[in-house]
Amino acid sequence: MRKIAILPSLLAADYGRLADEIRRAEASGADALHVDIMDPSFVPNLSFGPDIVALARRTAPNFHRNVHLMMRRPDLYLEAFARAGAQTLQIHIEADCDLHTELRRIRARGLRPAIVLNPETPVERLVPYLGEVDEVLVMTVHPGRGGQKFIDACLPKIAWLRARGPELDIMIDGGANAETVVAAHAAGANQFVAGSYLYGQADMKAAVADLRERIGAK
Ligand code: DX5
Ligand code: ZN
Repeated sequence: MRKIAILPSLLAADYGRLADEIRRAEASGADALHVDIMDPSFVPNLSFGPDIVALARRTAPNFHRNVHLMMRRPDLYLEAFARAGAQTLQIHIEADCDLHTELRRIRARGLRPAIVLNPETPVERLVPYLGEVDEVLVMTVHPGRGGQKFIDACLPKIAWLRARGPELDIMIDGGANAETVVAAHAAGANQFVAGSYLYGQADMKAAVADLRERIGAK
C-alpha cells in the first residue's frame, strides 16, 4: 500500500518565528516538511537557502526534510543542500543540467532523488527518468509563490503517471486544500504539499487529520 503523506510548505510560515513554525508542522502529525528553494533565474522570486534547511534539521531532527529546488542549476548546490540536511532532493526537469547525472549523485549521497514537472511541461518527458527517481512532484501551480489556485488541467498527468508507476510516490504542490487534495488523490497522487492552506489554520493538527480523513487515510 502506498503511503499517504501530508507536507506543510514552510514558504507559508510566519518568518518571524520560523523555528516555532517548523515545530508546529512537526506537531501537526504531518509526514515531512517541504522547503521551497527559489532561484530568480528559474522562477520570479527568491526564498530560502541551505541555512533554513539546517535550521529545520536543528529544530526538528526527526522530521523528514523534503527540499524542492526551483533552480536553473541545481547541480551547483546539491552538495550544499545535502550537507545542510536535505533528505529528499527534488530537481526540475526544466533545469539546465544533466538530470541523469544529478539524480544519480543524489542517490549516491544517500538521499531520495525526485523529479519535478511544471504545469506546461508534457508528462511524457518524464519517461527517461522514471527508473531513477523515488518520487515525482507534479506542480499544480506555476512555481514561484504560494497561495495560487490549483490547476485542474494537471490532474491527467497524475493519472498517466500512476498507470505507469503503481508504486511511485506521486506528489502534488500548489493550491492544495480540502477539495483539491481529494481530486488529486482520486487521480492517483499519494503525497500532498500544502502551504497557505495548512499554515493558515489556527489548528494545523486538526487540518492534517481532516485531510487524511477526506482521502480515506485516517
Ligand atoms: C510554489 C511552491 C509551493 C508553495 C505552495 O512555488 O513550490 O511549495 O509553497 O503554496 P500553496 O500551498 O499556498 O499553493
Ligand atoms: Zn514546493
